[in-house]
Amino acid sequence: MKVMAHRGYSGAYPENTMLAFRKAVEAGTDGIELDVHESKDGQLVVFHDEVLDRTTDGTGYLLDYTLDELKTFNAAKLYEGKLPFEPIPTFEEYCAWAATQDIFTNIEIKTDNVFYPDIERKLWDMVVKYGLEQKVLFSSFNHISLVRMQKIVPPEVVLGALTPRVDGLKVYPGEYCQETGFQAYHPPLCILNEENVRSCKEHGILVNVWTVNDMEGLEKVWALGCDGVITNFPGVAKGWVLSKEAGK
Ligand code: G3P
Ligand code: MG
Repeated sequence: MKVMAHRGYSGAYPENTMLAFRKAVEAGTDGIELDVHESKDGQLVVFHDEVLDRTTDGTGYLLDYTLDELKTFNAAKLYEGKLPFEPIPTFEEYCAWAATQDIFTNIEIKTDNVFYPDIERKLWDMVVKYGLEQKVLFSSFNHISLVRMQKIVPPEVVLGALTPRVDGLKVYPGEYCQETGFQAYHPPLCILNEENVRSCKEHGILVNVWTVNDMEGLEKVWALGCDGVITNFPGVAKGWVLSKEAGK
């Protein structure tokens, strides 16, 4: 079972920053999950929300700012007084660093509420530029983005269908993913059950679960035989998985 650090090591460091990504690797994570939007001038930036206010000292919609403007905002606002300024990373900065690390990356395309023309092509071009083709998977709540990605990437690149907490796919995700050609189902922990995992296993679909932040959740995901966990605490999860694999 693979461990993916959700927005980096976001349980202890500012989410979706290079600091959180480096700390996730130091904690022993197998992979990193991150979110990508576009700036006003069409640059790929690593960020979760559509608006800046929750996690930075900026305000308003991210897409209203150029990359140069976004770089002035502190993405460590929630750690003020504890950590120094952390910039919002570009996806290119992330890729350049990831190319030097023994990790894979779950790239979440944040087109749930915003339409970014050609973001899928831009993402793949950047992945190719840094030679990360074998070390990425793509996920999105917007399955149209996955269909677009399907037309761009080689067939072996995994596409993960994210589903919300109220999940229309919960009964037959295996059938859905097989029919659409998505290789992975990414449900939230709260809707995970024997039935939807069995549906995936019967159809050869991977199951990666978010966001698993406690032992009860890890036990459940392990017992159901899922393929991956996306967690804010990658060190704890990795240690737990290693002890399970060692039969302890
Ligand atoms: O990819 C899993 C998880 O990141 C999806 O939800 O809102 O944290 O991007 P969110
Ligand atoms: Mg995400």
